[in-house]
Amino acid sequence: MNSSADILIIGGGAMGLATAIELARQDRQVTVLSRSFEEAAVHAAAGMLAPQAEGLAASSMLDLCLQSRSMYPDWIQGLEELTGLDAGYWPCGILSPLYEPPPGHSLHASDWLQPETLNQRQPGLSAEVKGGWWFPDDAQVNNRALAQVLYAAAQQLGVQLFDGITVKKIQHDAHRITQVETTAGDWQAQTYVLTTGAWSADLLPVPVFPRKGQLLSVKAQPHAVRLNQVLFGSEIYLVPRQGGQIVVGATSEDVGFAPHNTPAGIQQLLTAATRLFPGFADYVMEEFWWGFRPTTPDELPILGASPYENLVLATGHYRNGILLTPITAALIAELVLTQTTDPLLESFSWERFGSLGCQHDALTATAT
Ligand code: GLY
Repeated sequence: MNSSADILIIGGGAMGLATAIELARQDRQVTVLSRSFEEAAVHAAAGMLAPQAEGLAASSMLDLCLQSRSMYPDWIQGLEELTGLDAGYWPCGILSPLYEPPPGHSLHASDWLQPETLNQRQPGLSAEVKGGWWFPDDAQVNNRALAQVLYAAAQQLGVQLFDGITVKKIQHDAHRITQVETTAGDWQAQTYVLTTGAWSADLLPVPVFPRKGQLLSVKAQPHAVRLNQVLFGSEIYLVPRQGGQIVVGATSEDVGFAPHNTPAGIQQLLTAATRLFPGFADYVMEEFWWGFRPTTPDELPILGASPYENLVLATGHYRNGILLTPITAALIAELVLTQTTDPLLESFSWERFGSLGCQHDALTATAT
């Protein structure tokens, strides 16, 4: 079978769907091919919108993340109005408790809370905690609900969504993608967008590789101490949902695409969560899962034009995919529509790796 599309997005996770939505809103005809919508990293995340809690240094990455965080309220509102669904966006702030206080001078920073103030904001923290950072502008979204909202919005806007189709090969000549070979025949398009996350290196020699994260969730018993905001500890994060659930993450493992939860991974999460928030031990276990962060050698995404004039890249978002979804979708759609690269994208070009043929091991050796 031979099929064609105006714009073909390869990958049906958060980036693919959100970019498709932006393009469809501009009346473009968009097709998304997804190997497995259920396996996309958007389902595996915890949904933190945490440029500050993640401790990103002043950089173009921090600028990109802060701008994306600021887009969230309007972006979510637009999607919720379109679909009538709730994405669970909650500007609850993030508290980052520490067992060791930072050097003296930073204790006077306005976002540092001494133990007494910290305990007023969040009762039930460990007696080992010596204070913490408070990031009121960091937030969260229910990533699984967001995935449903994005899917529904794309459908409503007329995006053609194909789940269960694997792109096996991207065919190209010296300058252009000529077609993609899939498990459902060949597809041709005017423009292609690659949003295949941790699986990107299956299709192009991009230095993107998986870093596994294991997560779990618990549910509050009736009289449990509740979390009022996200807790982002040095070895763990606890993300409370408004219904009383807490999502706990995450391990960070270089084990390729090795599937499954492991006793070691889950034990690590349970031990760290109970240390930070002892009342956690009385919650009810609910679910375990895992996912693969799309990681690059410098842990920054690969965004923008590619060596092929009709292929755009949006992959490698590592720990910040949910946070970066709105800005990625907006700027990648702008690039597709106008061939204009926003200055914010310049630091994230594939060209920083020299050549798309570079090997992961060689790049890792030189990564900062
Ligand atoms: N964004 C948190 C993580 O990747 O674990």
